[in-house]
Amino acid sequence: MDKRPASTLDASQIKTAAFVIEEEILRHNLSILKYVHDKTGATMLHALKAWATWQFLPMEREYLQGTEVSSLNEARLGYEEFGPEVHMFAPAYQDHEFEEIMKYCSTIIFNSFAQWQKFKSRIEEFHAKSGKTIECGLRINPEYSGESEHGDLWSPTAPGSRLGIRISEFKAALANDPKALEGIDGLHLHIFFEKDLADFKAALPVIEEKFGEYFKGLKWVNFGGGLKFTDDNADVEGYIAAINEFQEKHNVHTHFEPGAAIAWYAGSLVSSVLDIVERDDVPYKIPILDISFEDHLTDFFVSSDLDLEVRGATIERDDTKLAGKNAYKFGGMTCIAGDKMAYAHIFPAPLNVGDKVVIDHAIQYTLIKITMFNGVQHPAIVSWKDGKATTLREFSYQDYKSRMG
Ligand SMILES: Cc1ncc(COP(=O)(O)O)c(C=O)c1O
Repeated sequence: MDKRPASTLDASQIKTAAFVIEEEILRHNLSILKYVHDKTGATMLHALKAWATWQFLPMEREYLQGTEVSSLNEARLGYEEFGPEVHMFAPAYQDHEFEEIMKYCSTIIFNSFAQWQKFKSRIEEFHAKSGKTIECGLRINPEYSGESEHGDLWSPTAPGSRLGIRISEFKAALANDPKALEGIDGLHLHIFFEKDLADFKAALPVIEEKFGEYFKGLKWVNFGGGLKFTDDNADVEGYIAAINEFQEKHNVHTHFEPGAAIAWYAGSLVSSVLDIVERDDVPYKIPILDISFEDHLTDFFVSSDLDLEVRGATIERDDTKLAGKNAYKFGGMTCIAGDKMAYAHIFPAPLNVGDKVVIDHAIQYTLIKITMFNGVQHPAIVSWKDGKATTLREFSYQDYKSRMG
């Protein structure tokens, strides 16, 4: 595979604050996913929960087969902007939304046998009425996610997880009703968070040991998201071999739902330094940026173990190593005392008011989770292509007001 192209983003051309998506890098990521599809036949679905700047979805059709969605709103967006292959999983479905969900979705995955039994007849009636066939799946929980560097916060298989049917529950449901799987086309699992090929291969025997016997007669197994297919060091050929082997062994098709891997390094949050607060009780300065960590970078706010990659800077988590360095802990625009980075960034030269600060690798799970808490303006959304910035969306007072009443 070609190497990921270097960023060409020229921050001086960007009016801050703005999320900037670099189309060339996005296409690079998508081309890796297409390559895996071409070599395995695996269905590649864009998980809209990670990032859903819909202006790019028509272009993504050149590379991917469809979208993976988790709500009626996402289902409609996927259907209208990408196309008819829309696979939905939700922890539970609501009666009043289900008719519309069936209109938009090609596959619906249930989180429990009870939900499946509840909605099965509606899917059959919908088919009789409209002629549309909707494939159905059940989400399983193999109670394994591999090593977790981030604790249980992101693990859907941790004890007490509400997501997926555990093997003991699966067997009990079948003992109670041997026909409980009738009408089920596939099994779905989502157990990975930023995992690589070795983690994928380590998980397969665990999944097979628990659920392998139920793969017989199914059309597909959906492995969800969380695999770093587009990471610089990804062993793409290794993924292809493992997927092909799995498909042949079980005579099933596979589905994948990459979210983060689509946007991997393709988006940055560009901000400006508005002021630099100096305190003599800490060995760093506090630049106030025209963004908010609380509002715009929620995951970095919640999990200080995630690396915020600031262009030109290195991360230093140990405050005792900051003396004599151009050390900064960035602060945001809200009144929340904790709206700041928990660790320092070190720059080769001092920062000044008016400097641009480019946070790279910052589009996945950021833009999608934004709030307008404190009325802080939502950063614009900009596309960067061939050395030129195009604003896709700017936000205004009306966007803030319309959410408040
Ligand atoms: C069911 C499901 N599929 C796909 C994804 C996308 O995962 P990622 O963005 O890590 O690839 C998620 C993320 O939470 C998910 O819950």
